[in-house]
Amino acid sequence: MTDEIVPAASAYQKIRIDALITFGGHYHLEIYLRLSEEKFVKVSHKTDNFESVLEKYKNRGVTEVYLTQADYDSFTTSVRQTIISHLKSTVTEPSTPPPAIELLSGAHDILKSLIVRENLEEDTLGVAQALTLGTVKTIRHSNVLGKFAEFKKKCSREFTYSLMTAQVACLIIDQFNWANEAVKEKVALAALLCDVELLPEDFDLLKDSGYSKDKLTKKVMFHPVETAATLARESKFFSQETITIVEQHHELPSGGGFPKGLNYQRVTQLTAIYIVAHSFVDQMFDKTYREDSHAERCRIVIDQIKNQFVSGVYRKAGEALATVFGQGKMV
Ligand SMILES: [Fe+2]
Repeated sequence: MTDEIVPAASAYQKIRIDALITFGGHYHLEIYLRLSEEKFVKVSHKTDNFESVLEKYKNRGVTEVYLTQADYDSFTTSVRQTIISHLKSTVTEPSTPPPAIELLSGAHDILKSLIVRENLEEDTLGVAQALTLGTVKTIRHSNVLGKFAEFKKKCSREFTYSLMTAQVACLIIDQFNWANEAVKEKVALAALLCDVELLPEDFDLLKDSGYSKDKLTKKVMFHPVETAATLARESKFFSQETITIVEQHHELPSGGGFPKGLNYQRVTQLTAIYIVAHSFVDQMFDKTYREDSHAERCRIVIDQIKNQFVSGVYRKAGEALATVFGQGKMV
């Protein structure tokens, strides 16, 4: 049975079907589908067993459904322990494969929404920890760069790009003699959290702005420092390295980045590695990406990176990236 209603779009929150089925099976939730910009339709009532309804839509290729904002807020808060225990068994046991990528993407969505609401409770940090370990394990288990299309199909756009960026950053880090697992986890966590405040339209604006500060909204301009300030409130959990990457992730070697305009002499080596990795992923996996020309495109993008990042810590990161490519680790 379905009830069609016309509410404000802001009254709903998107959630991935896979995450809802795995983590939320025993909850009583109203489930909605989005028909148009402003139109939603209820496809499951609180008293219904929504799993069978969701399986039906999943089989038709639907990947996301909607909850009311109130249901979403209480669901994401109360589901944290389930996520932690579900992910923990696979992320801490070395002999098991990493968690299903769809579940990591679903956990990422939930973590983002908690942090945007400035919820940094112990359980939220537990989700962040499990997700970080799951992400690093995924990267260690296989080279995800050649599987962009597969991940894009199974995961949110944001999680896919975070995963790719974390992979490239970890490959670069391996070229430095200070590389270790702890530092990779710090960078992976930064990759997962850098853009928690941004919505799809903010990413479009960012892309179209060409980093021109007068084209950016206040929210986009200051999201690095705002998010860093939120994370800094839990400085026992979030390392200074993670916070610094988040704060500096849109800076540029010339000082033409934002929000602080820090040039190449004022960012850390780890931040430069993150920025180079992010730039590579941005240029590599744009709308024109084709899997069958992956290796050739990789070579072209790395040549561009080497020309773009020529100073200090950025140059070292760019050169390390070229070395990684030369070793055949990016195809
Ligand atoms: Fe950002």
